[in-house]
Amino acid sequence: MITVLVANPKGGCGKTTVATHLAAAFAQAGLRTALADADRQGSSLGWLRSRPESAPAIQGLDWHDGPGKAPKQVDRLIIDAPAAMKMKKIEELLRLADVVVVPVLPSGFDEPVTGEFLKQLEALKPIRKSKTAVAIVRNRVQTGTRMAAKLDKFMLGVGHTGAGRLRHRLVYADVAGRGLSVFDLTGKQNEALREDWAPLLRYIENCDPAMPFSAAGE
Ligand SMILES: Nc1ncnc2c1ncn2[C@@H]1O[C@H](COP(=O)(O)OP(=O)(O)OP(=O)(O)O)[C@@H](O)[C@H]1O
Ligand SMILES: [Mg+2]
Repeated sequence: MITVLVANPKGGCGKTTVATHLAAAFAQAGLRTALADADRQGSSLGWLRSRPESAPAIQGLDWHDGPGKAPKQVDRLIIDAPAAMKMKKIEELLRLADVVVVPVLPSGFDEPVTGEFLKQLEALKPIRKSKTAVAIVRNRVQTGTRMAAKLDKFMLGVGHTGAGRLRHRLVYADVAGRGLSVFDLTGKQNEALREDWAPLLRYIENCDPAMPFSAAGE
């Protein structure tokens, strides 16, 4: 099993969007997938409740009171962390994770908070000992803009190459209320959007070279 924690104390950077999309991508690939919601707002569990029966099944876990038992018969466990989570709580979840995915927005509000979070993460034992990997994903990127270039510069500053860029697209707000993801939709545009996720999926799968998305990284 690979466990992925999606975390960043900055609100609205795309944690739930990333968590639900990763879960859907793994489920579509035929992997037994669970999605643990550690946020009392319950957006991931709400998304699961709206998920149509025709879409590949994902097991929901309510972890808003703290981490529960990881299910045994599962290939991928995705944990959606809340905003403004105390480092103690992050550490608790981090101990379970093989990879922590940190979404970051191109914004003068988001970059400093994320930079500080990355510093705090690097001081924690699972990261220091390279037991848990850190994957930063740039989210809501508008290609070719000054803010996109600034975010790339931010990445250089924090010393991470990153695990791809997710473009800013309205479809993400739409599928959020329908229990779906771009992995569940047909059409050329969605196919192109799925490409955005390839570097992050490869990064995660490199923890388990036998699995479907694994290949060379970004
Ligand atoms: N790539 C994207 N393009 C367009 N909209 C996006 C994208 N990613 C996320 N969003 C939208 O941004 C908003 C915030 O995203 P999301 O809820 O995933 O963030 P979050 O980090 O989980 O927030 P919170 O900290 O409140 O838990 C949502 O309305 C979502 O649909
Ligand atoms: Mg959320």
